[in-house]
Amino acid sequence: MIKAYLEENKDRFLNELFDLIRIPSVSADPKHKDDMRRAAAFVKDKLLAAGLDAAEVIDTAGHPVVFGEKIIDSAKPTVLVYGHYDVQPADPFELWHTPPFEPTIRNERIYARGACDDKGQFYMHVKAIEGMIAGGNLPCNVKVMIEGEEEVGSEHLGTFVAENRDRLKADVILISDTSIINNDTPSIESGLRGLSYVEVEVTGPNRDLHSGVYGGGVENPINVLCRMIASLKDEQGRITIPGFYDKVAELSTDERTELAKAPFDEAEYIHDLGLNAVAGEAGYSTPERTSIRPTLDVNGIWGGYTGEGAKTVLPAKAHAKISMRLVPNQDPDEITELFSRHFQAIAPSTVTVKVMPHHGGLPYVTPTDSVEFEAASKAFEEAWGKKPIPTRGGGSIPIVALFEQELGIKSILMGFGLDADALHSPNESYGLFNFFKGIETIPYFYKHYAELKK
Ligand code: BES
Ligand code: MN
Ligand code: MN
Repeated sequence: MIKAYLEENKDRFLNELFDLIRIPSVSADPKHKDDMRRAAAFVKDKLLAAGLDAAEVIDTAGHPVVFGEKIIDSAKPTVLVYGHYDVQPADPFELWHTPPFEPTIRNERIYARGACDDKGQFYMHVKAIEGMIAGGNLPCNVKVMIEGEEEVGSEHLGTFVAENRDRLKADVILISDTSIINNDTPSIESGLRGLSYVEVEVTGPNRDLHSGVYGGGVENPINVLCRMIASLKDEQGRITIPGFYDKVAELSTDERTELAKAPFDEAEYIHDLGLNAVAGEAGYSTPERTSIRPTLDVNGIWGGYTGEGAKTVLPAKAHAKISMRLVPNQDPDEITELFSRHFQAIAPSTVTVKVMPHHGGLPYVTPTDSVEFEAASKAFEEAWGKKPIPTRGGGSIPIVALFEQELGIKSILMGFGLDADALHSPNESYGLFNFFKGIETIPYFYKHYAELKK
């Protein structure tokens, strides 16, 4: 069914995706505001062309949301597809081998910003739905919601969801915005990490000073910031903020053994990333450190003189952006509060410290014995000839926990990307195999879900 339709339409599917990728819908950059609207309009048009009954671009206080639906029978279950048409900024541009918004195929992969995250992945759904409608075998009602602010924290989506509860009513949410282990080892992520993101500012003297005239006599905020940041982790790689681990859900030995069954090649990981060795919290494996354990990382640090040559200056201010990835049952607001209190407490009296919270998001876990997980598992099995392995993901999709809170609906993370796709990095790519295999797998989810829900 879908296989024949896919074979016949492969080139067109790819060309459409390329047209979508060519729109530089960078949500973080106000310069791309019009491109955001163009991308939203493009998605709406393609939803209508796929055969949905209705689709519209809905304004929010930020970037618009695209919503469409096809209700075949109100007695049948409803699948709500979620994805995002916004992408991360493409810089540093000079590191791209081909331009980020001119999709190029090399080694059977599409190279472009958004090729995988999330244009390539959500577009598979648009084409799978088109195929099911064309073949007259769409077995469920379908709603599609594609947002434009995921990469900047889905700030206005909470309001959108709260205001559109009826419209979003569904039995399950289906999302392709995560990874599988590799193309021989399909997997389904059963969890996502949450996030607390803060910016800090340390102020010393009231202006930049001559580092000879004043150096040695006044506090240097960059030196202080570095000391403070260095103290946030101990020798064991554990975060030193009091209370940080209090609510962390510890996994049982059985659960850890189960997760450890997923294949992981540490030597290859080290080689791929050009590392000398892995690093992290003592007592946990690399897959555990990057999924079931929380983290604290400096994402950026600046201050003083960073231009060409040397300028002898003692800076007035130092800044850093810090992310903390959270696990069940940590609460982002609570963690942000614990961080702020601690960061103020460890500041020497010679400086003043400001902590500014950015976006956050709750962690998410879903049981692996539910009807919807079973349907996703069977879909992989049918299309890939292998049972997928349940894994826990390290990334964050803040809206997933919010969907559960606001709508009471669980999400299935049926992603088809690879960690090696270089999401958010230069030369992001998405395998042609993954794009087409995803389009083939998705209809099986609908089929099994409709059967299991009977
Ligand atoms: N698709 C990613 C998240 C992801 C990637 C989950 C790979 C699992 C595996 C998503 O677009 C993303 O980048 N999320 C941000 C969230 C943030 C901007 C609030 C993240 O994780 O940094
Ligand atoms: Mn994404
Ligand atoms: Mn992303």
